[in-house]
Amino acid sequence: MTQNNQINVEGTTQSNWRAETISLHAGYDANEHNRSAALPIYQTASYLFDDASHGADLFNLAKEGYIYTRTGNPTLDILEKRLAALEGGVGAVTFATGMSAIDAAISTIAQSGDHILASKEIYGGTHNFFKEVLPARGITTEHFPIDDLAQLESLIKSNTKLIFIESISNPSTRVADIPKISRIAKQYGIVLIVDNTVASPVGINAIELGADILVHSLTKYIGGHGNTLGGVVIDSGRFNWQAYPEKYPTLSTPSQAYHGIVFNDYFKELAYIVKVRTSALRSSGAALSPHSAFLLAQGLETLSLRYERISDNALKIVNFLNTHEKVKSVNHPSLNAHPDHAIATQYLKYKGAPGIISFELNASSHQISAFYNHLNLFLRLVNIGDNKSLAAIPAQTTHRQLNEAELKLAGISPGLVRLSIGIEHADDLIDDLKQAFAHAFIEAPSKSFAKVV
Ligand SMILES: Cc1ncc(COP(=O)(O)O)c(C=O)c1O
Repeated sequence: MTQNNQINVEGTTQSNWRAETISLHAGYDANEHNRSAALPIYQTASYLFDDASHGADLFNLAKEGYIYTRTGNPTLDILEKRLAALEGGVGAVTFATGMSAIDAAISTIAQSGDHILASKEIYGGTHNFFKEVLPARGITTEHFPIDDLAQLESLIKSNTKLIFIESISNPSTRVADIPKISRIAKQYGIVLIVDNTVASPVGINAIELGADILVHSLTKYIGGHGNTLGGVVIDSGRFNWQAYPEKYPTLSTPSQAYHGIVFNDYFKELAYIVKVRTSALRSSGAALSPHSAFLLAQGLETLSLRYERISDNALKIVNFLNTHEKVKSVNHPSLNAHPDHAIATQYLKYKGAPGIISFELNASSHQISAFYNHLNLFLRLVNIGDNKSLAAIPAQTTHRQLNEAELKLAGISPGLVRLSIGIEHADDLIDDLKQAFAHAFIEAPSKSFAKVV
């Protein structure tokens, strides 16, 4: 602390800080920003060169510095440092959305002729990306059930470049056994990419458990306010790219865009994440805006508090749904009956309780729609991780492009309802569910009654 104010101007990330502290302070030195206590928004497209050689050095990647906000910006940089510190990574690159982060994480290492293994239980948008976009680039994907690691191993081929999983799947809430999947990936020298969106950095330490690369949709728990899109790729720095030069040629062969630099030789453990920025981000142009970075960083400040409250609320709502006569089944890893309860108990923090709950009703499709239509407090929309509680019917919305067989494999029945629990009072949320149930299962009016009205 300095003598004349209360802000931390002395350093950046302290290695012993806990998640709560990292979320507020990591990556920021107020002395470098006119002693501004709050994160400044650098609303600029470009940055000045000292002279011609400075510009050339920056473009040659010979000097560190900002060139143009599409590839880097000080506001984004602080958010990136904070997220990398929170997840225990060596570096991070933010993106305009979670989907563009997923695209970049994959396209940095997978090329035409390559093969990907992805779990079946993933977000519908990611599923579509594997099914529609990657084949057009000559990349094929095969899916395995998240709990069938023998099948995962049997599907590995010589051209398999990466395994993609969600630590907690959206919406089926399957919990991946990251250490076991990581062991298989390591045995075959394959990168493990984990989408940690639903767990959030405070729900699961995915890198500690064995993930090589993480992606997040920042739109969800990290932003937390349902008002800003964003994504991030975080590199653990642990994958030994140099050991597999033929498998990952984008990092081991001279880069035409950067005067023959070999990323592995030049950037060592940072090779992958520098390539994400200087190739995928530079070319896709899917940069996060500085104002969005500010809003997401503001959300991040309260992530731990919000996640704790969300977990507590989720447990109460799971308990309510699980004992309701009209509910056929509830998917939530806190339940003994959940197939991944033991894994969740071992690896999930905050009582093993993520904020996503999905459930099926003993009801006709008409009654399911009536239940959904009568929700007042739960917002009817497609998003997760908002402070406000949300409800969606995935088969009709987020996973609409999947055919019947794919829906079944992803654990999504036509009447599955997904709730994203927020930070309201749990009793108010339960009251809202109660009145929606009452409307959905109301006795049909008798004919004589119908006549009178
Ligand atoms: C698990 C998961 N990953 C990625 C995404 C994509 O994120 P975005 O909407 O920010 O592109 C989503 C969106 O719902 C998601 O749920």
